[in-house]
Amino acid sequence: MIKKAIIPAAGFGTRGLPMTKVLPKEMLPIGGRPAIDYIVEEAVNAGIEQILMIVSRTKNLIVDYYDRSLELEAFLEQQNKQHLLNTLELPKVKIYYMRQFYPKGLGHAVSLAKDFIGNDPFAILLPDEIYLSTIKNPTKELIDAYTHYDKNVIALQQVDEEHLKSYGVIQVEKKEKERIYKISDIVEKPESNPPSNLAVTGRYILKPDIFSCLEQTKPGVGSEVQLTDAIKLMLQSEPAYGIEVASERFDIAKEADYIKLVQKVYTKQQGGGGIQ
Ligand code: G1P
Repeated sequence: MIKKAIIPAAGFGTRGLPMTKVLPKEMLPIGGRPAIDYIVEEAVNAGIEQILMIVSRTKNLIVDYYDRSLELEAFLEQQNKQHLLNTLELPKVKIYYMRQFYPKGLGHAVSLAKDFIGNDPFAILLPDEIYLSTIKNPTKELIDAYTHYDKNVIALQQVDEEHLKSYGVIQVEKKEKERIYKISDIVEKPESNPPSNLAVTGRYILKPDIFSCLEQTKPGVGSEVQLTDAIKLMLQSEPAYGIEVASERFDIAKEADYIKLVQKVYTKQQGGGGIQ
């Protein structure tokens, strides 16, 4: 039922400077593949058939990665290197691109997808956050909850108080059941008095109503149009649920997380364990 996803990948990647001046953080290598490929894989495994990537001028490597390299393929074929040819296979999903001309924030990036999305609910996957999932694919977990409740669903994680000011944070109306909360309010990067310790972590299933809310949303934190502020507005007419997802999350814009993730994937590859 949820077949379309948006991957907003247009940010400057300021946390990764100076390296991200030329190499998008989405292209950081993890187990021989770029980080963004884990996001695409998660989406495909959750049943997504069409992805719109929102990119900017410095993100052309992402577009190149999902293009075919016919000369390279011909060369490998001629050399009889089938095992290498297999590594070049592209994911089974249609990928579309759109440029975000101005760095006006995540909310603005998402608003660009209005025509692509149309009238159906859709997924958003933020490419900074990679989930190593051996239990349940987080996007699938959200889609299953959406199917059950027929309401907007957002991924959450409990975060220590000192870090909450880097996230969107929800206020809980009630705990539905283990790991599932009905949301009464949401605030982007609270400087003080966060309404809970449950932070928004980069996966969303939203109804298309979000687009009219985004149109009404003024720039917020960092003078950017915040997706969180549009969700807050949408809460007035459309309930939302939050789910503490089961999988382990890595924020690849944090070097320590990135190194840990690379090590884990390497260990898995050596032992042959799979990532869902
Ligand atoms: C964005 C969202 C924020 C969310 C976070 C998750 O912030 O605005 O609500 O908690 O992603 O990573 P950013 O990290 O882009 O500043």
